[in-house]
Amino acid sequence: MAGPPAAYDAIARDYQRTKASPVRAAVESYTILTLLGDCHKLAILDAGCGDGFHARRLMAAGAARVAGVDVSPAMIELARAEERAAPLGIHYVCCAVEDLPDLVCAAGFDAALAAYLLHYAPSEDVLRRMCQRLANAVVPGGWLVALTENPDQDPADYGGYAAYGFDKQALEPRREGSRIGYGLVSGRQIIRLETFWYSRRTYEAALTDAGFAHVEWCPLRLDPAASSPEYYAHYVAHPPVLGLIAQRVRDG
Ligand SMILES: C[S@@+](CC[C@H](N)C(=O)[O-])C[C@H]1O[C@@H](n2cnc3c(N)ncnc32)[C@H](O)[C@@H]1O
Repeated sequence: MAGPPAAYDAIARDYQRTKASPVRAAVESYTILTLLGDCHKLAILDAGCGDGFHARRLMAAGAARVAGVDVSPAMIELARAEERAAPLGIHYVCCAVEDLPDLVCAAGFDAALAAYLLHYAPSEDVLRRMCQRLANAVVPGGWLVALTENPDQDPADYGGYAAYGFDKQALEPRREGSRIGYGLVSGRQIIRLETFWYSRRTYEAALTDAGFAHVEWCPLRLDPAASSPEYYAHYVAHPPVLGLIAQRVRDG
């Protein structure tokens, strides 16, 4: 069962294969891109970038500069291999977001993306440090866009995702930092992951204390151009993750 910090090393290629699921493009990417808005000429930090799946889409959406950071050397190697095969100018850094170096923060990003990152914080302390480093990396007035564990979802509602290639279960009674298990279909095998549950209040406090304001939870959005929209109905109506946006407080 994969857990932090560099648990993705063992499953990097298998995780990459799960990106073939139609939910990734029709809901995940669409939600991220609509929450980010116009990416043209923006400098964007993809925090917990994995193999650079979203970093490449951000470049395709017109971003001026994208940097990806991930704690897993194997995921970063996959991202760099993609970059070598089809160079887009994306720079990848291997480190934990909570330890993001000042040099990276100093680059000043208009926005940070944290797609399935914050719920890997194994404690509130790490969650707070992640939010602090992300706030340091985003310019005043800039935005954080995250997809993270849905804090409102009752564990009794964790079923029904087989059609989307995964299952979800509470591994222990709910409390701040309690473990949630996912099984993701990857080819002919299932990869197991663990995330951590935090309440809305804990996320919101971590973000506002770090220097973000206007924290808002956002529903998942289905691309209106997606074919067979009925296929996505259960996923969108019972979202396992939610969007979360916040604006870096302006100086002064
Ligand atoms: C579910 S994957 C998502 C990857 C990518 N954002 C995507 O949507 O395709 C989670 C990623 O977060 C990374 N990760 C987990 N904890 C991290 C941390 N503390 N700092 C940086 N990356 C982390 C993992 O190594 C993994 O690549």
